[in-house]
Amino acid sequence: MSQYVGVLIVNCGEIAHMSSGDTSQPLVGAQMMERWENTFPAGNGIVISESSIERIDDSESLQSEFAPWWDGSNSISGDMMVFDAEGKAVTPGFVDCHTHLLWGGDRSSEMRLRQAGMTYRQIAEAGGGIAKTVMSTRGMSTPELCRTGISRLHQAASTGTTVLEAKSGYGLDTKSELRLLEAMDIINNSNPVKLLPTWLGAHDFPPGRTRSEYLEELVNSQLPAVAEQGIARWADVFCENGWYSNDETEMIVRAAADHGLPARLHVDEFEDSGGLALAAELGAVSGDHAAKSSLDSRHAAAESGTMQTFLPGTPYVLGNPLDSPLSKCIEENWAFSLATDYNPNCRILSMPFIGNLATSRMGLDPFAALVAATRNPSTTLDDPDVTGTIAERGRADINILWSQSVDGWCQTPGENPVIATIIAGSIVNVND
Ligand code: NIG
Ligand code: FE
Repeated sequence: MSQYVGVLIVNCGEIAHMSSGDTSQPLVGAQMMERWENTFPAGNGIVISESSIERIDDSESLQSEFAPWWDGSNSISGDMMVFDAEGKAVTPGFVDCHTHLLWGGDRSSEMRLRQAGMTYRQIAEAGGGIAKTVMSTRGMSTPELCRTGISRLHQAASTGTTVLEAKSGYGLDTKSELRLLEAMDIINNSNPVKLLPTWLGAHDFPPGRTRSEYLEELVNSQLPAVAEQGIARWADVFCENGWYSNDETEMIVRAAADHGLPARLHVDEFEDSGGLALAAELGAVSGDHAAKSSLDSRHAAAESGTMQTFLPGTPYVLGNPLDSPLSKCIEENWAFSLATDYNPNCRILSMPFIGNLATSRMGLDPFAALVAATRNPSTTLDDPDVTGTIAERGRADINILWSQSVDGWCQTPGENPVIATIIAGSIVNVND
């Protein structure tokens, strides 16, 4: 972490500030491609004071006002550090709004099973999948969980992620689920990336318990304990044929709402079971995966303000088509976001790689993909620190790219497009 209190970024290239209109709302449809309303041209600078952005203005004027001593090299004088962006493009920090950060074990053996034709469900029934990860995760100590989580967050930050939502869900009993959420709390205080926790006790049914026993535990002991400790901001359910039914999902979501926890839900990943429609009906902030949802459900989600969050990394690693209808969402002005879904099967912590899948494989405009990776997810996270924008008085979560164009954020799938990342005013990595 830096010791200085101010950072002046000079010679910025194009800055994607993403601040047009009402920033508490997502950008939709053609707005997602409105570059001129959402960028500043090259030649500006950014002054950061402590954790916030103080000024965005002409680079030379800011330099003579704040660092008249600067001699052209990256340098510190007094309490100000000058960082020369050398004309490179600048974006908000990436906001990864759907991850399964904390788990142990190894599921590499599942690739050969998939190649032999087994489905995700069949692999789970054969002893793999979520249940296998639960067994390895329960065997980890809290310090081990914290070390693993911190190392993964460093990796996420190295490709520009500054805010990350993380779900429990590999404990599947009250004690283990609480331990995962407690570990997240410790991790959040020991690393720069802002971590926002979600309770996903309803990720699967644990071995050795009947369905009704576990549902009873979820609603009557696990959820009240999570709520009482105040260690989760949302509740999630894996609502999918073969896992949690729509009725079970509704019961858990309503109970969570009674405890003050809004829902962000896994829906319609492998088939359309009306999960996104249910998410909309229940007022969930977000319906995630939503890969197979009907157009009617998508319309209902847009009407109710439920964000569709697409997770193209998952079908990519499972060998399934990347066919979520992004162009239709743009055409119909339906709000959507992108996230990694980092999990034992989908070892992707890089938002730029997800942007690459969305642009190279799903035809999304690169600027629209950046909106879906910054401002749009932020609107579901309900946190004053998290805006997904670059704006005066906002928290200074900023990436400086390798490219002079903001489109370069997602065009280098095998290389890191981010040369520097600032989180809450501190430079956390420089990849020169
Ligand atoms: O979102 N589908 C449910 N949960 C995760 C995967 C969990 C796992 O396979 O361990 C997901 O893809
Ligand atoms: Fe997931």
